[in-house]
Amino acid sequence: ATPEGELLQPPADLIGDPSHARHSHLPLPRDLFAPRKNSRGVEFGDREALASLLEETREHAPRCDDAIAIATRESARVAMAAAAGAFPAWERTDVETRAAIIERAADLVETKRGELIALLQDEAGKTLDDALAEVREAADLCRYYASEARLLFRERPLPGPTGEDNRLIRRGRGVFVCISPWNFPLAIFTGQVAAALVCGNSVAAKPAAQTPLVARAAITLLHEAGVPRNALQFVPGGADIGAALVVDAQTAGVVFTGSSETARAIHRALAASDGPIVPFVAETGGVNAMIVDSTALLEQVIDDVLASAFRSAGQRCSALRLLCLQEEIYDDALAMLIGAARELRVGDPRDLSTHVGPVIDAEAKAALDAYLSRRRAEGSVLFAAQAPQSGSFVAPHIVALTRAGELREEIFGPVLHVARWRAGENGFARLVEEIAASGFGLTMGLHSRIETRISELAELTPSGNLYVNRNMIGAVVGSQPFGGWRASGTGPKAGGPDYLRRFLREVTLTVNT
Ligand code: SER
Repeated sequence: ATPEGELLQPPADLIGDPSHARHSHLPLPRDLFAPRKNSRGVEFGDREALASLLEETREHAPRCDDAIAIATRESARVAMAAAAGAFPAWERTDVETRAAIIERAADLVETKRGELIALLQDEAGKTLDDALAEVREAADLCRYYASEARLLFRERPLPGPTGEDNRLIRRGRGVFVCISPWNFPLAIFTGQVAAALVCGNSVAAKPAAQTPLVARAAITLLHEAGVPRNALQFVPGGADIGAALVVDAQTAGVVFTGSSETARAIHRALAASDGPIVPFVAETGGVNAMIVDSTALLEQVIDDVLASAFRSAGQRCSALRLLCLQEEIYDDALAMLIGAARELRVGDPRDLSTHVGPVIDAEAKAALDAYLSRRRAEGSVLFAAQAPQSGSFVAPHIVALTRAGELREEIFGPVLHVARWRAGENGFARLVEEIAASGFGLTMGLHSRIETRISELAELTPSGNLYVNRNMIGAVVGSQPFGGWRASGTGPKAGGPDYLRRFLREVTLTVNT
């Protein structure tokens, strides 16, 4: 049975998160639901103006039916060889020059935001707010890695006895293979590439097969910013091309964002190689939970749950999959949640009133539909929103679980699972253990006004990012370094101070003077 809930206002947090503007120069969207969390004194831009800029841009932007030449194994090999040839000169370019080029790319990302947003909407089905947030994140990542590289590459004298000069020198490694996902086809793609380049590596970049046009636009602007043509190779294609790049003899490192399954396959391929032992940075998915206890402020919980579970049609690795409601508030919270979820508008991402756009393609829709019909057959679907019948739309769903530990797989779409939990003796710690049993460790949320619970969960959490009394998506570069461990990835965190260290090599120079 579907509990009938009180109808709430559409959730403010589904709309652009102003905190993203920390590093970026871009204006933020202003709309009907003014964001409440503008604590950083950010100036707001006009969302309608951006929408009309898009109208004009669309006339000139590349179209999604544009042909893209997909790499073959042979062209992938040639690209790797060319990148290897470009490496020595790029590595010798001083860090200040490399950082300035990457910063110029950030400026270009912002200047060309109209074209990029249009592509993100057309190719990846992003709403305006999601697309704008992604443009901002791409620019933020470039600027952040440029400034971190300047610090990291400063030559540092080290202590030693009199008559001995010790220093640590940092250098690039060679060709980095960057393999990126379709869910952040601009931000993650650009972030990986910028990190590798600014450290003096050359790059072979393979975007997800679903989103090559956004990636090509990013490559074009990086070249335009001054990255030498051969130091950055664009190698679009499917899994076979990714696999060929990983095992290429020139590969000096791999950075990957996508599924745990593919990360494991890359790990195995690298382990089986007789060549150099290269660094591997993987960021994958999660079965991300939010715990809500009986002291939580339910109105805020509902906003944060809707944003975390359904924004970007649930296609974020950070997205909320499992909502754990304390028994005492389960019925009330669920009724409110369903009431609010009824207000979600699913449809054309270019329509400013749309909250939830399509999923990435027909294949993703088919997998989600199959999962949901299994859940429907067992009678556990509590709520399904309305969605257009044609196109790859999947309506937001709420599915009941008998216990939190039941969910072990990542369902990558707008599907929220709910479970109840009982406090009792050690009830909270047992719940966290049940959540951890999925084996993942990416994001986690907590809504509680019990202060000790925050420190308790900070201690117990299996996740890499823990968000308290807010939504759990949209990590801000430099403020919320992002990434997990266990089945969720290797670290170090993207947008954090340790990320670049995996992209360079260190030479210790000791001279007897
Ligand atoms: N970095 C994104 C987020 O925080 C997920 O990839 O939502």
